[in-house]
Formats: sequence, C-alpha cells, structure tokens
Amino acid sequence: MSQINPSILSADFARLAEEAEAVRGADWLHVDVMDNHFVPNLTLGLPVVESLRKATDIPLDCHLMIDDPDRWAPQYAEAGAGSVTFHVEAATAPVKLARDLRRLGARASMALRPATPIEPYEDLLPELDMLLIMTVEPGFGGQAFLDIMLPKIRRTRSLINKHGLQLWLQVDGGVSAETIERCAEAGADVFVAGSAVYGADDPAEAVRRLRAQADA
Ligand code: DX5
Ligand code: ZN
Repeated sequence: MSQINPSILSADFARLAEEAEAVRGADWLHVDVMDNHFVPNLTLGLPVVESLRKATDIPLDCHLMIDDPDRWAPQYAEAGAGSVTFHVEAATAPVKLARDLRRLGARASMALRPATPIEPYEDLLPELDMLLIMTVEPGFGGQAFLDIMLPKIRRTRSLINKHGLQLWLQVDGGVSAETIERCAEAGADVFVAGSAVYGADDPAEAVRRLRAQADA
C-alpha cells in the first residue's frame, strides 16, 4: 500500500503538535530541514525535531536539505527520527553515512536533486531503505511538479526490481491529486505532500484521498 507523508513545511510552525494531529492516519510526518546553504531557505533543526518527537506518535521522516550531512544526519537519528534522508550531492561518504544511520536505528534514505541521475548510485541501493527523487528543485513548498522526472522514477523502479530490493521509492515536490497517479504509475510508493494536504480544508481527508488515488 502507498504511504502518504504530509510535509509540515506547509503547516503552521507555531502549532506543530496540533498540525501533526490534523493528519492522523498519515504514515509519516515529513520534516524539511533547510540550512540556507544547500538550499536558499531556512527552516528548523534538531531542537524542533526533538520536541516534535515527544509531542506526537507519528514517526518522523526527516529530509535534510543541508550541507555536511555526514556530520549532522546521525544526530537526527539520535533525536528520534525514524527515517533520515540526506542529499547525495552534499554527502562526502554516503555509504558510511547510510550505515551510521542504520546502526543508530533509523531508516537510511538518500535524495537526488532533479538534475542528479540515479545510474552512478546503482551499487549503493542495497545500503538504503528509501530513495527520494525530488520532483521540484528543493527549497520551497508549493512549486509545480516536474513531469520530466517521471522517466527517472521509472528507471529507478526498474533498478530496484532488478536487484530484488525492498527499498521504498519516495517522491517529493508538487505531489497532488493532479500528479500522484502519474508518480504511482511510474513506480513511486511513498508520497510527500505539503500544500496538497495542509492547504486542504480537511488535511486528514486529503491524506485518505491521495492514498486512494495512489493505490487505484
Ligand atoms: C521542498 C520540500 C518539500 C515540500 C513539498 O524542498 O522538500 O517537502 O514541503 O511541498 P509541496 O508538496 O507543496 O510541493
Ligand atoms: Zn521534503
């Protein structure tokens, strides 16, 4: 079954515990960490993740859009994130980092910006629990879905199947009622949605609808 991970980037940052509650039934809460270096925007960091961990039962899917993830990502695992995603463009030693994350009890996940191909990383796939294909340039919510990423999603799904791997394939950026079916058809099974969930009158209902569309 498909997983829907609402992104709190589109939530009210002064009411994060309530906003987590508002998407009850979602699989994971997607937490976008930005450092104003890897991307031109600044959001939140470890103290917020530590507090959110205590304030809600939903597991945290931390997406680190930051420089030097080799140093920082393990600290998000220690802070209680159930899944930690680092960007391969920013990582120095992605295999060591993925192993560190797993050793600390988190799911290890690697993200690709739109212009980063999957093929050079084929041999790394067994080290990962999830691969994130960005379907917008990372940095901001509410951007238009990049259709040109669909072939990369398809090629990645083929590689995962070729190697008989169980890793999840996540898409993030512009995922909505208009685009989720194309992503699912291409082979994605974990869907991040910010504005499509928190911009809806009933965020929990939006999650149910997106999941039904992805599973159709
Ligand atoms: C963008 C973030 C996304 C963002 C998605 O850089 O990584 O998680 O919140 O927002 P929407 O779903 O509105 O495109
Ligand atoms: Zn994200």
